[in-house]
This record gives sequence, structure tokens and C-alpha cells, in this order.
Amino acid sequence: MIDIHSHILYGLDDGAEDLEETLEMLRIAEEDGIKKMITTPHYIYGSTEYDEEDIENRLNTIQSLIEDEGMEIRLFSGNELYMDYYLSSSLRQGHCLTLADSNYVLVELPMDVVPSYTENVLYALFEQGYRVILAHPERYGTIQREPEILYRYIEMGCLVQVNALSVNGMTGTKMQELTKRFMEKNWVHFIGSDCHSKRVRAPRLSKAFELTEQWVGKKKAQEIFDENAEKILQNEELLPKYKAEPPARTKTFAFLPFLGGGKKHLDF
Ligand SMILES: [Fe+2]
Repeated sequence: MIDIHSHILYGLDDGAEDLEETLEMLRIAEEDGIKKMITTPHYIYGSTEYDEEDIENRLNTIQSLIEDEGMEIRLFSGNELYMDYYLSSSLRQGHCLTLADSNYVLVELPMDVVPSYTENVLYALFEQGYRVILAHPERYGTIQREPEILYRYIEMGCLVQVNALSVNGMTGTKMQELTKRFMEKNWVHFIGSDCHSKRVRAPRLSKAFELTEQWVGKKKAQEIFDENAEKILQNEELLPKYKAEPPARTKTFAFLPFLGGGKKHLDF
């Protein structure tokens, strides 16, 4: 299994606090069967920015300690990029990292509001040759309320990563059900632990793999947990094999605007 979303690099963001916690998290990951892991500290324009050399040095230090301990896990560089108006120029200017030096970028949206410039930024990223992976959309209030927004991003060319904890139901049964629906509709391309510590948000994928296998079968589970992620590491284009199905039927109540109007989801 390959984890494409982790906050395992110590002392950079709200992830691992120190080198010891990084190593403990790696032991958990190794034990769980994770073979490769992309490290994705938060990049937030004007707030959390890093020196690329510093990240590289930390990665090298940790990788050699991994080998000293006889573990096999391999680490790769990256960032979780917070959506903002300047994202494409920040990338172009080298202020933040793609995943494993590939053309793939992991992009996070605000939790409850989709900024009005989001589509423009996504198109700017596509034009520059980046392949956009949306981080854990199942967690965003806007997308929980209106899953068709996510479908639109997928139709535009975005790929999707969901969190293992959402699959497992650790963040609630509603989010688990939504994640399952995303998988059944072929809206999910990658998994990530989004691990932040050795405790609750630890780097584990195996339980999520078992559930995914039950939901969509072994072949698709292997693609989501391994084969698709390998394409990032090889910087190969991922052409989704399965057509994303449109959102569930919606019913418009435009004639009843005083009752909320808009759309009601019948089975999402
Ligand atoms: Fe994250």
C-alpha cells in the first residue's frame, strides 16, 4: 500500500511533533503494510512555507534512520497545498512542492466554503500541466451538502483522494456512507492516511483496504491503495479506467423557494 497524504515530517506543521514521534509513526505504518509514503506538510500561502532544502534534509535523515532500524518503507517529498488565489504562481515559482517531484499536486479546499476563484485556479493549474488531486473532499461541508460540486471537479479533470479514517467510519457514519457512495460512483482514485500523530490519526490503511475491498472489489481496491499511487511516483498519467457516474438523481424545488428551493438529494 502507498500512502499519498501524511504529516509525518516532524516539527513543520500540526503533524509529528519531533523525530521520535516521526519514527513511532513509521513503525506503525510499516507494521500496517504501508510500503511507500509521500510526506505532505501543509503549505498555506503567507502562513506556513518551508525551505525546500530543509524538507530534503529531514527526509534524508529519516530515511537513513528507517534503514538503520531495518524498516523498508520509502519516503517521498510533497506538500498539501491549501487552495488560494496564488496557488499556480506559488508552484511555478517553486515555493511549494508537487508530489514526489511529479506533475501531481495535492490540493486542499477550505472546510466549509468553496472559494469563488476555485475553478479558475484549477484551470490555471491544468494549463500549467499539473494533475490536481483533491484532498479528502468527503470532509468538506459544501461537498457533503452538494456532492455534484465534486462531480463537476472530476469532470474538469481532477482526481480524488479520500481519508482512511473516513472509510473506517472513525469520523462518523455519515461521512463513511458518503465516502462509500463516492467509491461506488468511481469518484475515488487514491487513499491517504492524512496521519498527524501516533495516536488517533495514525498512519494505518489496512482496515480501510478491507472495507474498500468489500465495497468495490479487490481489483478497484488495489488500484486505489497501490497502482494509481505508483503512477504518481513514476510521474505517469493516470487515465481513470472507470467512468465517474453522475450524482444521484436530484429533484428541483425551484417553485418552492420559501422552503429552501434549490435541490434535494434523493439517495446521496
Ligand atoms: Fe492533511
